[in-house]
Amino acid sequence: MLDGKRVVLGVTGGIAAYKSIEVMRRLVDLGAHVIPVLTESALNMVGPTTYTALGSEPVKTSLWSDADPIPHTTMGQTADLIVVCPATARVLADYRIGRSADLLSATLIATEAPVVLCPAMHTEMWDHPAVQDNISVLAGRGVIMVPPEEGRLAGGDIGKGRLAAPELVVDTVVRTLTGSATGPLAGRSVIITAGGTREALDPVRFIGNRSSGKQGHALAEEAYRMGAEVTLIRTIELPVSANIKTVSVTTAAEMEAAVHVEAPTADVVIMAAAVADFRPVTRADQKIKKANGVPQIVLEPTNDILAGLGASKPAAQVLVGFAAETNDLDSNAQSKLERKGADLIVANDVSAKDVGFAHDTNAVTIHTSDGQRIDVPLQSKREIAAAVLQVVATRLDTVA
Ligand code: CTP
Repeated sequence: MLDGKRVVLGVTGGIAAYKSIEVMRRLVDLGAHVIPVLTESALNMVGPTTYTALGSEPVKTSLWSDADPIPHTTMGQTADLIVVCPATARVLADYRIGRSADLLSATLIATEAPVVLCPAMHTEMWDHPAVQDNISVLAGRGVIMVPPEEGRLAGGDIGKGRLAAPELVVDTVVRTLTGSATGPLAGRSVIITAGGTREALDPVRFIGNRSSGKQGHALAEEAYRMGAEVTLIRTIELPVSANIKTVSVTTAAEMEAAVHVEAPTADVVIMAAAVADFRPVTRADQKIKKANGVPQIVLEPTNDILAGLGASKPAAQVLVGFAAETNDLDSNAQSKLERKGADLIVANDVSAKDVGFAHDTNAVTIHTSDGQRIDVPLQSKREIAAAVLQVVATRLDTVA
């Protein structure tokens, strides 16, 4: 699949450096010519011998070599792609400002090939405005980001910042180089909504809900990993792979409009968003003042986006809804399945421990319109997403 492709694999000094060995092995297995480039800090984390043994050329660690006086330009000019895995805060900063501090950062500046960066660091560092700013500037220049996941970090902490799974890194490289995907959703277009909608009362206040958008983002990442072309329509901006198309909305009406642009030609639509059922009839142009007394807020219903999609669903499309419930899970999910014309309803008990809004874990029951009831026990939202999308993939094969 990658025969004849020259890939520079940059490795920087993060604790996740050992995972780059798996990435290198998989790329070599796919036929790529992989040139490992380790920074000095990376050499404190992993040994060069492994890279020389498994790579396609001896590991490179220095700008100064007798064999090639200009290794950065040689590699930069001949590479089909450069992937940096893991990418520390330091290399992001150097690359953003164009500073050639070492062989890797010099090679990054000396190339016109696509660059894939896989950041990994502690949550505090990832959240720092300087790092986020560097990420968005680099993404704006066309650099492809494979964002970090939530999980265990160095020192036992748990949070955002763990390197993306090696399979996802390799998938991203393959798709960037070949434009083609593998996996059970290859060639499928998938629309996913995420987060809670907000309905304004005045310029500073809104009616909202507790949805964090995490399950929708996990579905988007997982659908991408399974080979789909993904559009994520969202109210909350969590980090997401650069190859996922995103559309930002705020209100139920904006979400509906965005969904209607994308849905008619989609193979799969997943309404994971918590959409407001009601919105204020009027939105005050100026802040509602306390001195004017208790306001009377009159609400009107929003359109049910999922039900609208169900009513006009193309025959070969798979439509998925969620049901956030606190009681009578099965009967509520079953009635939503029928009422909204969905193929699948993914029900969760948001009152249960570690389930639903804001948590990193979830437990769901998938109800299908052909009578199946599948329990998916408590696990990460990414794993829940994989289980839901597996059912979607099977369903697509039967409706196609
Ligand atoms: N949904 C929608 N448009 C709305 C409300 C909900 O598309 N205006 C979708 C949600 O995205 C979800 C499904 O419908 O996929 C179920 O949402 P939920 O809030 O659980 O159900 P409701 O229909 O709002 O019913 P209730 O609040 O009474 O449980």
